[in-house]
Amino acid sequence: MVYLDNAATTFPKPRTVLGSIFRCMEEYAGNPGRAAHPMAMRASEAVFEAREEVCSFFGVSSVENVIFTKNATEALCLCIFGMLRPRGRIITTDLEHNSVRRPLEVMKKRGAAIDIVGATGDDDALIRDIERTICPDTQAIVCVHASNVCPRVLPIEKIGALCRRRGIIFIVDAAQSAGIYDIDLSKIGADAVCFPGHKGLFGPMGTGGACFKDGFDFSRLAPLLYGGTGSHSSDADVGRTAPESFEAGTLALPSIAGLCEGVRYVKKISTKAIREHDAALYRLAKNELLSLGATIYGDFGEGAVLTFNMPRVCGSDVARSLGDRGICVRAGMHCAPTAHKALGTGGDAVRISFSPMNTERDVRILIDALSKI
Ligand code: ALA
Repeated sequence: MVYLDNAATTFPKPRTVLGSIFRCMEEYAGNPGRAAHPMAMRASEAVFEAREEVCSFFGVSSVENVIFTKNATEALCLCIFGMLRPRGRIITTDLEHNSVRRPLEVMKKRGAAIDIVGATGDDDALIRDIERTICPDTQAIVCVHASNVCPRVLPIEKIGALCRRRGIIFIVDAAQSAGIYDIDLSKIGADAVCFPGHKGLFGPMGTGGACFKDGFDFSRLAPLLYGGTGSHSSDADVGRTAPESFEAGTLALPSIAGLCEGVRYVKKISTKAIREHDAALYRLAKNELLSLGATIYGDFGEGAVLTFNMPRVCGSDVARSLGDRGICVRAGMHCAPTAHKALGTGGDAVRISFSPMNTERDVRILIDALSKI
């Protein structure tokens, strides 16, 4: 099998991730934060270790500022519904995944206005458009860091600086960038970065979170979930104490233990090496695809995702034929309809996406199959 669907979820995971999940299930799968017996204490330590790895990875020093969720979507919903008001204006881009677009549509129904800026030009044009769009009513910018359809990476440090100057909330969707591009919250100055654990950070599915900047005032955040937190049990209110008030219910301990090793794996090989590896595969795939007459969409640089169509065969049929040959890619709209529209794909295109586990051989097998299709 050739796996080129790493933007959906990375596969395979490092052996250390698998080992960590297995060890947890076998040795210390007590309920973290709920008891003082040895297994529960060991479980709490494992969650703490994972928070430490994540918070240092995102340039934050307060371990409590990492809130674990089941994926980036849940983290974005926590931030959007928990921090923003159903009035005023919110700026976003045309490259968003539905994980941003749909919650913002809900905010719109509740009374907020949404301003969409185009993000397929260059960085200066984007910053100019955002500056022009900001008005006294603008309460927040919510945007993707790296597109899940093309290698467009938004200048989040510049957007963050703009937000700080204008006193605007900034929420970053790092679904495709965490583990590939450097995200240092101390430099970006975003209020929160929402990340999946199961993509570039190599954890299992069911992991993710929101990492809040140092000094973030959690009284400004409403929880998404209400229930048991293992503390202040006599209170009817879930409270506003990070992280536990925002993580009601039992955490996915074995998965979080796996995520911890996933982050260590990325730190060990380095995001720079991962980017260079992805860029080399992108270059090879792009050149070979062009020689087969493919159309490549959003060719803004060399990154981990490449979306294309072959002449005369629709994207979904190409993906199905590749699947029949054991080559895993994703076709369709990739849950990002406005991005597809902005990139002119026609709404159905084939996406290949790389991880450090891929080799040039994978690309050559893909190209060979495409030439037969
Ligand atoms: N958001 C993931 C993707 O782009 C699932 O495939």
